[in-house]
Amino acid sequence: MQKSNVYIETYGCQMNLADTEIVQGILANKGYDLTNNIKKADVVLLNTCSIRENAEQRIYGRLGNIKTLRNKKPNLVIGILGCMAERLREDLVTDKKIVDLVVGPDEYRRLPEFIDTAFNGEKGIGVKLSKTETYDDLVPFRNDDGLSAWVSVMRGCDKFCTFCVVPFTRGRERSSSLESVVSEVEQLAKKGYKDVTLLGQNVNSYLDNGRDFADLLAAVAVVDRNVRVRFSTSHPQDFSDKLLYTISEHPNLCNYIHLPVQSGSNRILELMNRTYTIEHYLTIIEKARKIIPDVTFSTDIISGFPTETYEDHLATLEVMREVRYDGAYMFKYSPREGTKAYRMEDDVDEATKSKRLSEIIDEQQKISYEINQSLMGVETEILIEGFSKKSNEFLAGRTDTNKTVIIPLKENIKKGDYIKVKINKATSGTLFADVIKKIDLTKSRKQKTA
Ligand code: 5AD
Ligand code: SF4
Repeated sequence: MQKSNVYIETYGCQMNLADTEIVQGILANKGYDLTNNIKKADVVLLNTCSIRENAEQRIYGRLGNIKTLRNKKPNLVIGILGCMAERLREDLVTDKKIVDLVVGPDEYRRLPEFIDTAFNGEKGIGVKLSKTETYDDLVPFRNDDGLSAWVSVMRGCDKFCTFCVVPFTRGRERSSSLESVVSEVEQLAKKGYKDVTLLGQNVNSYLDNGRDFADLLAAVAVVDRNVRVRFSTSHPQDFSDKLLYTISEHPNLCNYIHLPVQSGSNRILELMNRTYTIEHYLTIIEKARKIIPDVTFSTDIISGFPTETYEDHLATLEVMREVRYDGAYMFKYSPREGTKAYRMEDDVDEATKSKRLSEIIDEQQKISYEINQSLMGVETEILIEGFSKKSNEFLAGRTDTNKTVIIPLKENIKKGDYIKVKINKATSGTLFADVIKKIDLTKSRKQKTA
């Protein structure tokens, strides 16, 4: 095998970031060198996202850019990984010049073979989806900060929300074994990691030999009380009371739930095939607040789904006011080929989608600001993650409710420390605080936090 430098650029969700680490693990095992410098690369791979049209367009643009690198390095291998693989295959077949290899999310084990054949001038395509591939036995290559890590616990999605391309690009749901997840978290804890996020397109449908996601969370929580555990993302349909009780029982399971609502209108939710009503969704929120005092929520919202009326839009704003999310990821509906919604007319015009989206964003900004203002004077625990983005005279940490807190730099405080702080200033996105003292999370009880 030719010894070569591989450069990977990742687009899209956390799942894709975690997949890139798996791919890097596979390549490093086979003796490839990994580089962060595209100019030094013999192989350039883009791990792609198809969730919305603008994500795909960005990647096509970037591909155009990267192709010009071939002028200087004619043997440069260019490859596409991830969710666009299936779609790009067509392009590759009709226009062989675009890329050398296209590998979908379930065929990463074959990547070294494809790279080798690409060096010999042959195109490689591996886009089959698998019912079983979980990459359980592979160790991801983590070139991160040594503090926060993602651990993928299930892959694929069987929900078939009518707007979403994921069930087509990532295939059927399948879960990693509980033992393999626990063992990965044990390894991470040993290496000093303090913050682990369990990932899956819908972690609530996790199932391994009768053990559900709550069982998995409980098993991961007891690995090391100094390691905080988060998870993403949840579908309201499978959100169980058992899961809520599990979160409330373990001090290091974060008081934070990402629960996509998508729309506040029952009519739209039905067209989206979300399989719940707003009333049911609100019951989960209410229950969670009872069982886990101080729990915070974030959500995903789509504006301008086919047939969405102004009243439907108002219903979404109403739900936002009722739940008072701490954060939200907000998107304009983007038709995706192959989905059920693609066959519906995309009848909310662009200007209306934009206007509704900006109303939704404004509402969320207002709510986040009010919530954060109400935290003034509150004492909470944060995990120090490093310097603040803006200045090396400040440190940044996170509450277990996923809020960023900035504190002044102090000699005895470093990345990885748990600190008790008191909030003294707040914007819609960031909290600022004074330090009270260092703490030991293992001795802390379930937090009452910001
Ligand atoms: N258009 C807009 N947003 C979408 N999402 C998924 N598919 C689409 C689409 N076709 C959003 C949903 C989902 C998040 C990951 O991306 O809100 O929860
Ligand atoms: Fe897409 Fe719905 Fe599955 Fe989430 S639950 S990945 S939105 S189909």
